[in-house]
Amino acid sequence: MAPLTTLAALFLGAVASVEGAQDWDSAAFATSPPVYPSPNMTGADAASLSGWAAALEKAEAFVANLTLEEKVSLLTGAPGPCVGNIAPIPRVGFKGLCLQDGPLAIRQATYASVFPAGLSTAASWDRDLMKLRGQYIGEEFRGKGSQVYLGPVAGPLGRSALAGRNWEGFSPDPYLTGVAMEESIIGVQSTGVQAVAKHWIAYEQETQRNPEDTFDKDTIPSVDQIMSVSSNVEDRTIHELYTWPFANAVRAGVASVMCSYNRINGSYACQNSKTMNGILKGELGFQGYTMSDWMGTHGGVASVEAGLDQTMPGAWNWEPTLPGVPSWFGGNLTKAVENGTVAESRVDDMAKRVMTPFYLLGQDEGFPGVDASSGAYPMNNQFEPESDWLESWTAAGAINTESNVDVRSNHSKLIRELGAAGMVLIKNNGALPLSKPKDIAVVGNAAGDVQNGLYYHDVNYEPGVLPVGGGSGSARFENVVAPLEAIKARAKADGTHVQYILNNTRLVTPGGFHDMIYPVPEACLVFVKAWASEGADRDSLELDWQGNEVVEQVAQNCSNTIVITNSGGQNVIPWHSHPNVTAILLAHFPGEEFGNSVVDVLYGDVNPSGRLPYTLAEKESDYYFANITSSVSNPNDTNAWQADFTERLLIDYRHFDYYNLSVPYEFGFGLSYTNFSLSPSITVKPVSNSSIAGVPAPTTSAVPGGNPALWEDVYTVTATVKNTGAVTGKAVPQLYIQLPASAGEGTPVKQLRGFTKIELTPGEEKTVTFTLARRDLSIWDVVSQEWSVPSGTFGVHVGFSSRDIKAKSSFSI
Ligand code: NOJ
Repeated sequence: MAPLTTLAALFLGAVASVEGAQDWDSAAFATSPPVYPSPNMTGADAASLSGWAAALEKAEAFVANLTLEEKVSLLTGAPGPCVGNIAPIPRVGFKGLCLQDGPLAIRQATYASVFPAGLSTAASWDRDLMKLRGQYIGEEFRGKGSQVYLGPVAGPLGRSALAGRNWEGFSPDPYLTGVAMEESIIGVQSTGVQAVAKHWIAYEQETQRNPEDTFDKDTIPSVDQIMSVSSNVEDRTIHELYTWPFANAVRAGVASVMCSYNRINGSYACQNSKTMNGILKGELGFQGYTMSDWMGTHGGVASVEAGLDQTMPGAWNWEPTLPGVPSWFGGNLTKAVENGTVAESRVDDMAKRVMTPFYLLGQDEGFPGVDASSGAYPMNNQFEPESDWLESWTAAGAINTESNVDVRSNHSKLIRELGAAGMVLIKNNGALPLSKPKDIAVVGNAAGDVQNGLYYHDVNYEPGVLPVGGGSGSARFENVVAPLEAIKARAKADGTHVQYILNNTRLVTPGGFHDMIYPVPEACLVFVKAWASEGADRDSLELDWQGNEVVEQVAQNCSNTIVITNSGGQNVIPWHSHPNVTAILLAHFPGEEFGNSVVDVLYGDVNPSGRLPYTLAEKESDYYFANITSSVSNPNDTNAWQADFTERLLIDYRHFDYYNLSVPYEFGFGLSYTNFSLSPSITVKPVSNSSIAGVPAPTTSAVPGGNPALWEDVYTVTATVKNTGAVTGKAVPQLYIQLPASAGEGTPVKQLRGFTKIELTPGEEKTVTFTLARRDLSIWDVVSQEWSVPSGTFGVHVGFSSRDIKAKSSFSI
């Protein structure tokens, strides 16, 4: 291994935003060196899921019995009943695979639940709820006959607060997202459904995510297309931030990983050999199959050689009246094998990778047929309108004879609980919880029911609540409980008078509130919202529909203004210190039980326990360290779209801490109706006496999640937490590690490396123990290409947020 000083120097050299460092040079620092050939799977067990070798044996026997065309059909999307389909192979009794979005519900199905978004799930900081959500989602997929759940999401991670899909994932902190990935995958796969970790990798914006003119039939396959944006990320950053949560996913035994639309350091994610062959199948020892995002494959042989195992949705068509585009795989892949361009052994490995999770999860036995009411992906079946897929799927016994199967069970209970657990109370001057108020007002356009129907949330509509965001990560609702509806029900029981105005245009008009609301109520609940969706990044971090003006107007007239934001991430809330704004609750995207969840928190039936999974800064320009790229299209430059990740490791709190900037509400922060203390004395102990400095001994074969030594516990940290208030509540003690100076300039000041959630009754005290794995203390050494523990003093910080540190200690390595 190179001495860390060399390492630090190398790293330093590329930090554009760090003082004194040289300018970012993507050609020099952000490269994806070729990594070939694509590693074959070995059947190595994942830490959380064993049985891979036996499943691989079954897959080998199955694949050995297939013709080349049949093998290729396992690798190529086909027409069928689901968002993505692998056709049945009746000759060998294989019923095909049904792939559905994901990630917060079985997207288009009837009689299914809509769970809280990933963002809300992360904001709960509750491992048990994360896993249970995964399990229930898995049960619903299974019940609807879908073998493959297209989720969870670790990319976008949340480099930019403006990115349209951040809410589908969890948090810009890779550790928190890693935990959420792991728990979700374990939960989903415990039901025998395959999870797909997406989108691999560095997919951090919607802007320019697809090549221009892709949908213009005149130009396909024109070489004049402007290619998707290239996320230019240097080696240390791609490992320590963007790969990190995917390592958890692989370690959890995830069946599949979906490559993303963007390019990485110049080459498309679905044909980037460094990221797929090198990092994913090599370093992380991934044993499952990679799958392309829909129309994210831009080459045949090149993608296959770079590690892509399955292309989706196969042949496709945007306009049914125009000729479609054949798949890059399918007949083209068969031909490539026949003419010797692609070795059949590669296709065999691809097919085994697809079939091993199938056997591992027992999908060959008793898996329900597809519920015909699960909703089809319109485009997918248009390419071959004459396709007899329904006939062949039915003949194969792959379609359930029953449709509209109700798979919801009692899941609304968890949805309500997790929806509340993912709400973060960031201000409370004693206004909450409400206690049988005599008179309240409910105002703002996010309080009422949805207005545009129960499915296809593709536009930012004015009136109505946003239980979730838009795009493929949205869902069809059977039922939405709107805040006003749930508040009215509660008010009736309490004998409270409720007045309401849901029209923001009226509310921002001078007198709009004042002239209508009489008498001025004890409490004014203002529901404001911000839309976020796949396909477009947010224009700004302002609340939509003049939400900030609505709050200001109400606060001018009501001395007890309680604001509830309904949003997919960060917003600027300039009124947060207004004296009449007495409480602020960030409700995020809590799913179908929104109204009940928010009533539970507002009335104190549930003590708020959510914590910010991101930082709320004062103003929008504070976030500009990771701006969205939107260069003007230049048709003469097919390579025009570039996003340089010059901020490197310094996203979210890592940025604000590094530059010592004050923020109103920091990562990890959140209030409760009780108070907690954490004793200033903490115990830090090494697990063994042997030195852990530097790079651990290498492994000789691939292990899912990477070198097992990285996951060994090396230190424990013990702290004592007490409930010093008057009611029972849940505390979220958090552990942050400060790496030694030898980790190099540009290393974050401190990083989350442990958290837990504990319930405490008044006066109760509990001891919590965090375990630190070797990875938690390592940096990615760009010279040795290994994770390495730097030498020096490590700071140990335990507290209730990234800035509310109650106890400090240190150890040296
Ligand atoms: C594109 C999205 O990026 C992906 O997340 C989704 O799974 C597919 N479409 C299928 O709908």
